[in-house]
Amino acid sequence: MLKGKKILLGVTGSIAAYKSAFLIRLLIKAGAEVKVIMTPASTDFISKLTLSTLSKNTVLVDLFDEDSWANHVMLGRWADIMVMAPLSCNTLSKMANGQCDNLLLAVYLSATCPVVVAPAMDEDMWHHNSTKLNIQKLIEFGIKIIPVDKGELASGLVGDGRMAEPETIVQFIEECLRVSKSFSGKKVMVSAGPTYEPLDPVRFIGNHSSGKMGLAIAEELYARGAEVTLIMGPSAINLPKNGIKSIRVNTAEEMYVACTKHFNESDIGVMAAAVADYTPVEVATSKVKKNSDELVIELRKTKDILKSLGENKSSKQVLVGFALETNNEREYALEKLKNKNADMMVMNSLNDKGAGFGTDTNKITIFDKSGKEFNYELMPKKEVAKNIVDTIIQLYYA
Ligand code: CTP
Repeated sequence: MLKGKKILLGVTGSIAAYKSAFLIRLLIKAGAEVKVIMTPASTDFISKLTLSTLSKNTVLVDLFDEDSWANHVMLGRWADIMVMAPLSCNTLSKMANGQCDNLLLAVYLSATCPVVVAPAMDEDMWHHNSTKLNIQKLIEFGIKIIPVDKGELASGLVGDGRMAEPETIVQFIEECLRVSKSFSGKKVMVSAGPTYEPLDPVRFIGNHSSGKMGLAIAEELYARGAEVTLIMGPSAINLPKNGIKSIRVNTAEEMYVACTKHFNESDIGVMAAAVADYTPVEVATSKVKKNSDELVIELRKTKDILKSLGENKSSKQVLVGFALETNNEREYALEKLKNKNADMMVMNSLNDKGAGFGTDTNKITIFDKSGKEFNYELMPKKEVAKNIVDTIIQLYYA
């Protein structure tokens, strides 16, 4: 898997820098080509000579080495993946804030490849609010964080903050490379969240959809290299800031317009949104007063977006729908798959505890047009998203 892969390893000032030597050995053994860049502080922890001998390449520290200038842009473009291991608290903060006071940071800022980091610091530093904020920023930039281990720390304390073991880092790199390119060149449109149908300036008809499932799918596709447009209804969720193109809509009609436009230019469409089926015929321009004991609201059907996309899609486009049911789940999901001319239908049932709206977990069954069926256990929505995306690959792009 790593044979021939170009790996740029950034080493920063942390006791865990000694583990970089083991990491380089594992990467070289696996057939990767490794170039190492160290921060000046890291050279107090491990020598350039050790790392250049193991990596079989010159180790760079400064932007200007003797008479030559290290071309940080080309180094950033050379790599298939950039790995910061160990990532110190200081370099983490600089990465989060776009600082550029050494070669490693200049290369990081120029890198066009996926970046993964293996933080290493003392427990109190790891749990500090500023560290949490910096890690959050990196996640928003699309950087993958290798979880820290719990154990004995350089301070003698026992707790969170140890850098992951080199074997774990290698596995993480392999996984990252495996997924990072599988959708490159593909354009994907994902709809998510509810729609709100206004009754008057203060009221609407809506539903409990949080948008979490659609967001997780959009992020998974983005992580695998797709160009993603996320069309998000009015949920409380923050739109991603990591390169996913996000469009906020409110009503079913607005979602219809946005989805129709973007699906036209897409290879794949995933309709995870819980679109309102009916909208008020009249929207009052001022607040409706409670003047009568009963109030009848006349509703008309909204456009069925999935159905309309299904009717107009080309044979090359893949269309995925969702079916949230409360009864006769299988039957209704299969009916929707057929009637809306989707390629895949992801079914979830409100009868399964932990599945459906608002939760961080989901339990799904996927049906495809040829009659295949895939059943999954209850799991976090991020894992569900991986399974959905894996199934798209398996069925349409393998
Ligand atoms: N959908 C859509 N446009 C609508 C209604 C639904 O695109 N106006 C899509 C949803 O995004 C989902 C699929 O159709 O991918 C199924 O939605 P669901 O609400 O489960 O089914 P409906 O077709 O609305 O049927 P019903 O409410 O009767 O179950």
